[in-house]
Amino acid sequence: MGLYEQVQETVGAIRARAGGLSPKVGIILGSGLGGFADGLEDKVVLPYVDLPHFPHSSVPGHAGRLVLGRVRGEPIVAMQGRVHAYEGYTPAQVAFPARVLCALGIHTLVVTNAAGGVNLDFRPGDLMVITDHLNLSGYNPLTGPNDDRLGPRFPDMTTAYPVVLQSQLRESGRRMGVELKQGVYAILAGPAYETPAEIRMLRHLGADAVGMSTVPEVIAANHMGVRVAGVSCITNLAAGIGGKPLTHEEVAETAHRVKDLFTRLLEDFLPTVARAGASNT
Ligand code: HPA
Repeated sequence: MGLYEQVQETVGAIRARAGGLSPKVGIILGSGLGGFADGLEDKVVLPYVDLPHFPHSSVPGHAGRLVLGRVRGEPIVAMQGRVHAYEGYTPAQVAFPARVLCALGIHTLVVTNAAGGVNLDFRPGDLMVITDHLNLSGYNPLTGPNDDRLGPRFPDMTTAYPVVLQSQLRESGRRMGVELKQGVYAILAGPAYETPAEIRMLRHLGADAVGMSTVPEVIAANHMGVRVAGVSCITNLAAGIGGKPLTHEEVAETAHRVKDLFTRLLEDFLPTVARAGASNT
């Protein structure tokens, strides 16, 4: 079975259980940010393990779930948890769930992640609107034969994160009293954190934040003609800046600390974007 057919099969399995919800906005919730989906109205919860072809982490309790529901009445679909290439998944598998959301009919995909702050003005707990990315992972989810039914062989990435969505994020931030930074997200393959020399290199290259996710999904969504908005939660100063070792615990703790700010932002942004529609580019 080809990728296109797999995507269609998974979409069929979701529609069969979605209770008639037909979301126009999808969101991928990154490390520590998954709690947002627990607060959705009219929730339908679909564990990844129950969805055909859907990649899921083998760690018990971290398998992930797809949550369909409403925010202020507007239907959305949220991914609680994602897989990463460093777990051993192919880049195409990592991007598969994003493709499924796109094929479900969303016009806008919101991507979120935990990231290290490379920009010296950033502090742990800052939220950053992603203006663009640097794919320094060494891989791409589109590697291999292209299926024109999914998208073009050479997709344009000039407006990978359309400015109109960046502006709407900032407006939501203003309305909700959430200060937002902005900048370029760089992906490295991981799973080791970066060295201080790598962080200096990233700063020279124009990166403001660094992480190990998101870019595969953004490429797949752009391939399929779906608009992307991105928010990074700066969970820690990148290696060598703060003078202390990096730990996953610090990342998780900071993500937990900003949970309420993050939720406030999304409760305004998601319904605004759902109502504005795809025409508003
Ligand atoms: N580097 C890479 N990935 C990350 C970091 C970091 O400092 N923080 C959270 N995810």
